[in-house]
Amino acid sequence: MLDAPEISDAEYDQLFSELQQLEAANPELKAPDSPTQRVGGAPSPMFAAVRHRQPMLSLRKAAIDLKAEGPELQHAELIDFDRRVREVLLKAKVDYIAEPKLDGLAVSLIYEHGVLVQGATRGDGETGEDITQNLRTIRSLPLRLRGEVPPLVEVRGEVFLPLAGFQKMVRDAEARGEKPPVNPRNAAAGSLRQLESVITAKRPLAFYAYGTGISEGWPQPARHRDVLDQLKTWGFPVSELIEPVTGAEGCLAYFEAIGKKRASLPFDIDGVVFKLDDLAGRNELGAVSREPRWAVAYKFPAEEAVTVLENVEFQIGRTGAVTPVARLRPVFVGGANVSNATLHNMDEVQRKDVRIGDTVIVRRAGDVIPEVKEVVLAQRPADARIVVLPPSCPVCGGAIAREEGEAIARCTNGLSCRAQLHGALIHFVSRKAIDIDGLGEKLLALVIDALDVRTPADIYLKLDAAKLAVLERMGEKSAENLVKAIDASRDTSFGRFLFALGIPVVGETTARDLAQHYGSLEALLAAAAADLATEHAEKKKERFPLLQSVPDVGPTVAASIAHFFAEPRNREVIDTLVKPREDGGAGIHWPAPKAAAEGALTGKTFVITGTLPGLSREEAAALIEANGGKVTGSVSAKTDFLLAGEAAGSKLAKAEKLGVPVLDLAALRGLIG
Ligand code: IVH
Repeated sequence: MLDAPEISDAEYDQLFSELQQLEAANPELKAPDSPTQRVGGAPSPMFAAVRHRQPMLSLRKAAIDLKAEGPELQHAELIDFDRRVREVLLKAKVDYIAEPKLDGLAVSLIYEHGVLVQGATRGDGETGEDITQNLRTIRSLPLRLRGEVPPLVEVRGEVFLPLAGFQKMVRDAEARGEKPPVNPRNAAAGSLRQLESVITAKRPLAFYAYGTGISEGWPQPARHRDVLDQLKTWGFPVSELIEPVTGAEGCLAYFEAIGKKRASLPFDIDGVVFKLDDLAGRNELGAVSREPRWAVAYKFPAEEAVTVLENVEFQIGRTGAVTPVARLRPVFVGGANVSNATLHNMDEVQRKDVRIGDTVIVRRAGDVIPEVKEVVLAQRPADARIVVLPPSCPVCGGAIAREEGEAIARCTNGLSCRAQLHGALIHFVSRKAIDIDGLGEKLLALVIDALDVRTPADIYLKLDAAKLAVLERMGEKSAENLVKAIDASRDTSFGRFLFALGIPVVGETTARDLAQHYGSLEALLAAAAADLATEHAEKKKERFPLLQSVPDVGPTVAASIAHFFAEPRNREVIDTLVKPREDGGAGIHWPAPKAAAEGALTGKTFVITGTLPGLSREEAAALIEANGGKVTGSVSAKTDFLLAGEAAGSKLAKAEKLGVPVLDLAALRGLIG
């Protein structure tokens, strides 16, 4: 299938480098048609062939070895690259330019007297495809160069699809009932290699330039950084993430730093390219088997791996949600050994057609929970078993219900289900909720079993130093400290209290918004009760109108809040939590609401995104609130302004889409006056 790969990129890279090593050790085995002998994909006969006047080389890859001990061994291949460069150039330290490795398609652009006359894919490195018409549709790609231009210059760079555009393509494909693209690179490739450029034009492709090829009448600068500056002057977009670095240490520091930024970038990168800055030095180093010795691609550790799904078990979360969990044959991926991965819910299981015994691709990106990404259908065994939702809760035996139109099935036993109770308590005591230091998961399991804790309120009613001290691995001192921490947690804020209750789909921000909007528990309960009557209204907007007037609260969240407070068991726990201690309650309390500040921003709702110069987000929020404004977590039609700093991502895109005005810090200060 066109641009739909059969194995994961990581697998391909691994097999490819194994083949390279085998061939290096046994040159007699190297076949003329070995995949190592071609640089990229073969050109398609659907487009006119373009012979590159200077071959488009590939990049040598260096692999990080996370299993090795210590940074020196883990990064041995990169350190080796730098050593070879220094040996040839006879230098003690070498300057490199570090560039993000964009996950797109390399293209060659020929400009004659400053006008784009031909654009081509890399193809096999020797011959590519003429896609001039399609490339012309990319807005950020200049059709005519600015300033002084030579008679001839070839510019090279990467065409890629930013994540927002990729997600839109996925949604559009799904809406049309077509198979969505599997990753941004394939989506970009598919978009560029359209026979009809009107189709390409509809795809939000972007371009970054990173080098030059042939030229005439252009005195080549001495360094790569000068080339990049020239490209900018001519009007090309050049990535802001590109930086000069020195030595292997400099390369590693850059690699670490960009790895941290990666998840918040608006486009996919799969590693870093280090290029020798000195262009004369590049000639000295030359190329081996179509890979220059002056550059190296240092990829992030593989985030995908193939393994076997041995079983599926069902976990019960704190809201009763039943989550199918894949038990896997352990596999090293994303820097860790993974033996469990989430399957999210039964809809996902069905959509991905996951069966027990299947070979699956597992994905673990950054700190995200590992997930089963897809099944390798070609390797399905004959006895693969279909996954079925258990009829009753595997923990408490209670009924499992799945409401119509809901993807998630839930155990209906509430806090009587031990799994839900344990989860609810873990959430209740967590740092951003009621915040009881020293009451961890294991200890909570103990107090459930040994001290008969049955609700969050029981933490306050049933635990004392004497009872705690006799528990496993607790001493008198730690018991006393814990009692102090429990005591301190009684004095909290309304927002924390609401968050701690663990109302399904109500996160920290929504809890804070609700607290700010209603000011008191009584007011919130009254609104929730009044809204229940509107539950079956025709239009979604007419359901739960009071709750929906809170920023960021839509029909789903509103329904969850109203249902939560309508449940007598929940009300009983809440009553006990806030009842004064002298009346036999837990005595949780919070200060009465401050009257909102009045100021230039009164009545205006803000969302903050990106890194602001010299100000943390909390400080920016305080500044807005001190001037009467409100700060919420996500951009919606109710947002008045987006305050955007550097590296703003999806929120900025959403604000632009909704026409929400975007401010920088200076503009905000201007508003405040
Ligand atoms: S330079 C000889 N710079 O990686 C140098 N390539 O494996 C040739 N790529 O075909 C390429 N980001 O598609 C270069 N900053 C970057 C890059 C980059 C991504 C891709 C490009 C190329 C492939 C080489």
